[in-house]
Amino acid sequence: MRLNKYIATAGVCSRRKADELISNGNVKINGAVMREMGYNVEEGDRVEVNGKPIFAEEKKIYVAVNKPLGYITSMDDDKDRATVAELVSDIPERLFPVGRLDYNTTGLLIMTNDGQLTYALTHPKHEVYKTYVATVAGVISDVRLAKLRRGVDIGGFITSPAKVRVIKQNRRSTVVEISIREGKNRQVRKMFKAVGNNVQALERVAIGDIKLGRLMEGHYRKLTREEVEYLKSF
Ligand code: URA
Repeated sequence: MRLNKYIATAGVCSRRKADELISNGNVKINGAVMREMGYNVEEGDRVEVNGKPIFAEEKKIYVAVNKPLGYITSMDDDKDRATVAELVSDIPERLFPVGRLDYNTTGLLIMTNDGQLTYALTHPKHEVYKTYVATVAGVISDVRLAKLRRGVDIGGFITSPAKVRVIKQNRRSTVVEISIREGKNRQVRKMFKAVGNNVQALERVAIGDIKLGRLMEGHYRKLTREEVEYLKSF
């Protein structure tokens, strides 16, 4: 955040007055006078105005995004692919995705500038259940379903118990709802592969109690206060 905005957000004065304070040498960053108007305050910087430390709390924003196919869950991409940042580009705050979805996975992604919440939600100790709808090739036997529920080896890692139920099935493909707590790279795809069914399409429909619902692909909605409180309880 620019220094003048930081000072204004902390409630010291207006941005214009903050510019005056900066050019008059009344502002210090980490103990040294800072006269650069364009200085960007970094996390961990100690900002003082007239010798007193100030703190600007950035407004916390929480949104649910319906990620389309072909978007990557990072803020920029060296291969010039579409990023989820583009889906929330009309929000002035810089939002980060909570966890990841594959390029070829669609559905619910939470984005926020609340680093503490992101940390809590993605920490392996208390990862929240995430629910996916997977369309897989072929039929899937009860034995395979039982294996998925119990845990399968996805290359040196045994998955923990999962909730699995068949939504519909024909000879060529099966639609399965699966809920897992872990978030290993490409975990759902690897789990189905491990029992012999390739995933053809994958959509995340819920993160804990937060549902994708009817949110249109490529769109976002702000989370309700209840939803934010719920996520913070993890
Ligand atoms: N599991 C996967 O295989 N892919 C995702 O994007 C999410 C979970």
